[in-house]
Amino acid sequence: MPDLFDAIRSDHSEIIAETIADGAVILHGFALDVAAELLAAVDAIAAQAPFRHMLVPSGHSMSVAITNCGSAGWVSDRKGYRYDRIDPDSGRPWPSLPACFLDLALRAADAAGYGGFVPDACLINCYVPGARVSLHQDKNERDFSAPIVSVSLGLPATFLFGGLRRTDRAARFRLSHGDVAVWGAASRMAFHGIAPLKPGAHVLAGERRINLTFRKAI
Ligand code: SIN
Ligand code: FE2
Repeated sequence: MPDLFDAIRSDHSEIIAETIADGAVILHGFALDVAAELLAAVDAIAAQAPFRHMLVPSGHSMSVAITNCGSAGWVSDRKGYRYDRIDPDSGRPWPSLPACFLDLALRAADAAGYGGFVPDACLINCYVPGARVSLHQDKNERDFSAPIVSVSLGLPATFLFGGLRRTDRAARFRLSHGDVAVWGAASRMAFHGIAPLKPGAHVLAGERRINLTFRKAI
């Protein structure tokens, strides 16, 4: 894969794809044309399954507030991390994946070289200034042959992208509103995270960053 190549947005305009590691790419602005629609869908999901700060096994609560949609949702509590078909707060299944989510995830995976990606879960992260996600691997999914597709909306963030060992140096990349990061194959188990969010206000999302992470989880 060349370092920078052109991919095509749904309206046929060109976007810049930045290769950040073997099998990992940031599609700059790929989701811009559907961002408002995605944010409206996030609001509808959050009305059914509100954002909440989950506990991690150490007993601390995450600085990022999360919710999910799809056949399964990523959950965390004192017992550990897993996917669950049921929202533990409501006792009901998670809201289903909106068509606009599925369509975008498919197109982004395809543009990044991962044809045939059909996600069954979408973790939705909500960051306010100061919120962060420390370096981790996405490893609760059943099938690591599928990539991760991660959509950034609202305030910009610094994406930390390291190697396969926690101690590998992580490079820093800017993720702006409408950017889509895709990582799979040799990078599927790469450590990654988000640096503490800087204060600001975004015209569509307000004082927040919203991240949609699509996975093939179950
Ligand atoms: C995550 O890896 O869980 C979050 C990624 C992001 O917010 O961009
Ligand atoms: Fe992650």
